[in-house]
Amino acid sequence: MTNGILDGQYAPVREELTVTELKTTGEIPAHLDGRYARIGPNPFTDPDPSTYHLFTGDGMVHGVRLRDGRAEWYRNRWVRHADLARRMGEQPRPGRAHAGMDYAVNTNVLSHAGRTFALVEAGCRPYELTDEFETVGPCDFDGTLPGGYTAHPHRDPATGELHAVSYFFGWGDKVRYTVLGASGRVRKVVDIPVGGSPMMHDFSLTENHVVLYDLPVTFDLRLATAGMPGALAGPMTSLMSRVVGRRTLPEPVVAAAIRSRRGGVPGLPYSWNPDYPARVGLLPREGNATDVRWFDIDPCYVFHPLNAYEDGDTIVLDVVRHPRMFATTTVPGEGAPSLDRWTLDKTTGRVGTDRLDDRPQEFPRHDERLVGRPYRYGYGVGLDMAGSDFGEGDRIDLAVFEPDAVLKHDLLNRKTEVHHLGQGRIASEFSFVPSSDASDEDDGVLMGYVLDTATDRSDLVFLDAATLEQTGAVHLPSRVPSGFHGNWMPTP
Ligand SMILES: [Fe+2]
Repeated sequence: MTNGILDGQYAPVREELTVTELKTTGEIPAHLDGRYARIGPNPFTDPDPSTYHLFTGDGMVHGVRLRDGRAEWYRNRWVRHADLARRMGEQPRPGRAHAGMDYAVNTNVLSHAGRTFALVEAGCRPYELTDEFETVGPCDFDGTLPGGYTAHPHRDPATGELHAVSYFFGWGDKVRYTVLGASGRVRKVVDIPVGGSPMMHDFSLTENHVVLYDLPVTFDLRLATAGMPGALAGPMTSLMSRVVGRRTLPEPVVAAAIRSRRGGVPGLPYSWNPDYPARVGLLPREGNATDVRWFDIDPCYVFHPLNAYEDGDTIVLDVVRHPRMFATTTVPGEGAPSLDRWTLDKTTGRVGTDRLDDRPQEFPRHDERLVGRPYRYGYGVGLDMAGSDFGEGDRIDLAVFEPDAVLKHDLLNRKTEVHHLGQGRIASEFSFVPSSDASDEDDGVLMGYVLDTATDRSDLVFLDAATLEQTGAVHLPSRVPSGFHGNWMPTP
């Protein structure tokens, strides 16, 4: 049986490789000294295709070490959360999980304060990795992180601090803003009341504000208890229904619920909630929870903003907007995602909306020297739209979404350039790395994995960000299945 997310572009690889002799073509930019890594789901043991969810597959990191214009190695490694370590015949790594929330760590991988972290959301702690992507164990940043974390922190380029908004159904009706200092310890925690238990996958940061996307995908008790044994499901449903989305659940209760789901339905317990108002919140970065100002918007879902900035009394938010999410299917994608601009007018309270690009697209990135600042260029991966006529309501799920192009948005001139990767070549997320600290905004390289379906191998591809021309590639001996997020990690 197939379900579209265990085969084709998502088919897992079966072994961990360490390869030091790598073929390359073209040039690898000589200024790149560090590692590029990307993570995604790659089940170690075959899951039940009828219940497997893309977001819950065991995480695997694929990384390439670059130095002096050379590719020194490629490594792929599973991130050993406790259950996976046991299935692999290994000891779970030392370190304490938060509230029993220890599951596949598969969504993002990045470095901070000289350490490497694999990230997932919804209550699980980050997992620290070695420089070679071996699993160290769950991490609470030297005891300073209360609870779980997010897959999408954002680094303030002025301070080097990592800002984050985390969610967890056990916190009831609140989400948590944290600031992780440049030294790798949490220095600020603000709990923010929301209307229930939303899936808040990402957020935006501006110079003075944290932007919250409080949107109608929320914790679904029916899905959460579907895998519980009958004797436990009744009492647990009764208990949780009284508190989920309203009050903080005691950690032992959450841990018992999580334990009872083991071996049960491994799906994602979040779904579209038509009764949950969609809104965007502005939290002053130095404020507290009572300072949040909310702006109502039309229902939709955002996994990923591109960037955000302030223009006088207006907050400009560029986001990849999905018309709906998890309403009729558990596979992401109910309607084509588009690049939209929302402008929040702090004087009038009004929200303006503008479609910047209607090509189906995801994985938006930009020059991260400009996080929260006015910027001109954005990048993403998407479909080559030549000759097609996608509409907003057209279904485009990830099982069939094969991004065959890298997009460059010029937001000043409102035009988008498209780089076609070629027949049967599927893009993962592309990250921008500037040529130097002082170089212009699009003076640098875009890098990401491209899966060639004809050879069943992947390349780490380099594009000139100014022209989108391919300048070089590292040819890997294996495939990198389609997955989630990647980052350049410069050598400290
Ligand atoms: Fe994401």
